[in-house]
Amino acid sequence: MQRLDKIISSQLNISRSIARNDIRIGKVFVDGQLVRDPSFQTNPEKAFIKHCGQPVGYKEYVYILLNKPKGVLSASEDKKRETVVDLIPETLRRPNIAPVGRLDKDTTGLLILTDDGDFAHRVISPKKNVVKTYKVWLDGEVTEEMCEKFAEGITLADGTKCRPAELNILEDKVAEIKISEGKYHQIKRMFGTAGLGVDGLERRAIGKLRLPENLGIGQCRELTKPELEQIFSN
Ligand code: URA
Repeated sequence: MQRLDKIISSQLNISRSIARNDIRIGKVFVDGQLVRDPSFQTNPEKAFIKHCGQPVGYKEYVYILLNKPKGVLSASEDKKRETVVDLIPETLRRPNIAPVGRLDKDTTGLLILTDDGDFAHRVISPKKNVVKTYKVWLDGEVTEEMCEKFAEGITLADGTKCRPAELNILEDKVAEIKISEGKYHQIKRMFGTAGLGVDGLERRAIGKLRLPENLGIGQCRELTKPELEQIFSN
């Protein structure tokens, strides 16, 4: 059971005070009955709630998949710069929505946004071993020797140890890399140890969830239940 003002505010992404006011002035019906008490308790999974004549479809959390463009910040808000949350349509926004982990400003590709903190933790935590796959464009040649070194687990310039990572050569200067942790600028720093600069970086998959081919750059959509499960199967 939840308070009606809380349900209206979380589902419509409006403030609690606006939700309370809307209820008091008669904009909200629950199971066909006008309810003017903001503290009215109901089960949001079962009740049929209408706000301004429109059904309020209840979802405890939202899970959004975004094809992140270059130049956008992986943050919830920033005073000056555009963030990934700015790319989410109003209808999918929630008060606590945030990106699951961070991609650098110039990195593109698969980014999940959610207001489910436990889920976000499971995706990010190195203990959960969720593999993230990236395509990387380099300013020099990738060698078999690098693949072997990455597979053993390399040490970054500042002494930080990385877990073993799978590196596959796609073309002379293009590779695919799989990592199960997310240290700051990790991939750029990993290639830095081999004297290579990263010209482009795109996240292609999280677990078995791949960036959909038909999701254009800057586009987003809700994740389906089977897609959510794919994240946790490596
Ligand atoms: N590693 C990086 O260096 N940058 C990213 O955005 C992700 C992983």
